[in-house]
Amino acid sequence: MKKIKYIDEVDIKNKKILLRVDFNVSLNPDSTIADDARIRQSLPTIKYLLKNNNRLILVCHLDRPKCRDPRYSVKIVAKKLQEYLPEFKVKVIDDLLNDNDKKRINQQEENEILFLENIRFYRQEKDNNYQFAQTLASLADFYVNDAFGVSHRNDASVTGVPQFMPSYGGLLLKKEIGTILKIIKNPKKPVVVILGGAKVSTKTDLINRLMEMGDYLLVGGAMANTFLAAQGFNLGKSFYEKEALEEAKKILFKAAQKNTVIVLPSDAVIGNPQEEQNGNNIFKIDNLPPNANILDIGPETQAKFGAIIAKAKTIIWNGPVGYFENPLFRRGTDFIYYAITQNQQAISLVGGGDTLAAISKKEYLDKITHVSTGGGAMLEFIEKGTLPGIEALKQ
Ligand code: 3PG
Repeated sequence: MKKIKYIDEVDIKNKKILLRVDFNVSLNPDSTIADDARIRQSLPTIKYLLKNNNRLILVCHLDRPKCRDPRYSVKIVAKKLQEYLPEFKVKVIDDLLNDNDKKRINQQEENEILFLENIRFYRQEKDNNYQFAQTLASLADFYVNDAFGVSHRNDASVTGVPQFMPSYGGLLLKKEIGTILKIIKNPKKPVVVILGGAKVSTKTDLINRLMEMGDYLLVGGAMANTFLAAQGFNLGKSFYEKEALEEAKKILFKAAQKNTVIVLPSDAVIGNPQEEQNGNNIFKIDNLPPNANILDIGPETQAKFGAIIAKAKTIIWNGPVGYFENPLFRRGTDFIYYAITQNQQAISLVGGGDTLAAISKKEYLDKITHVSTGGGAMLEFIEKGTLPGIEALKQ
């Protein structure tokens, strides 16, 4: 059977390594890094490879630019990495397709870490262009994927490159796969899944899979609005997916058949996303004013969710349950986080860039069994048990 080999299971010394990392960190409005967990989590792989005298060429994306755009330069994450590795010189290579820059890559010095500019500046990345992947592969001897968070993408730097060179998994990839598999294979019951975020339509398969696993599905965020609208509630001006109403009805019906309890908000904080003072406009879902814009779960919903989370033996959480960008509407999300950290008998798995950016008190993070660096990737891995980037490494 084909299997992934990880870097600590093979002998990789004195080589040039093309290392795919997911340093797609969330940024503050002033463009500083809001949370550098994704960088820190890949440090063990980076240090391990450096310790064995390998030269590293890092590849990553930042956000979703369609072409070269200085606002999404990797310079900001390269600078952060430099702070963690003061004994090395981290250099950004502007254009890997430019002959001078290619020469520069070939002349990489021993104490240098080269960082390729945002790989999504090249449309060939998303197209998984064969030649582009080949060019990337030609820069090094080995490829290492430590980017669990982007391994659900069929991109040139994720699934294209391994066709052309010996390829291995990094230590973060190993940890993510091992820990999440352990949590989802034989979960201790009751299993409580908390889902937030905006869309039902993109997560139907996942929700179906989670219903097989979960005893309770607590839904918040705009996703909950679609279920509430499917139940016939009038949500005023709140966002919901009209085109997903039928799907939402089917899910509610299936849940009833499977004995999975889907718990939806019974009250909400409404307001204007730019509100600066009043975050206390609380209404019952069955009594919302005609101009209501739901921005967070209300206190009654918090209490209901909290009681279920307290009884859980396994907890899986993805997605903020409110408009967390405004602290007035972050209370529900902070409450969920607090409730999870208070249940120390449960195994907890939390993932998603947004989820991490949304929580205020990062000091409790160590009370969570596993904080995944993946958002969409973690969910797809739970759904399918593998990811394209993982399959591409199997030999
Ligand atoms: C993420 O932030 O979840 C990963 O970096 C993947 O980014 P993407 O959704 O833009 O592919």
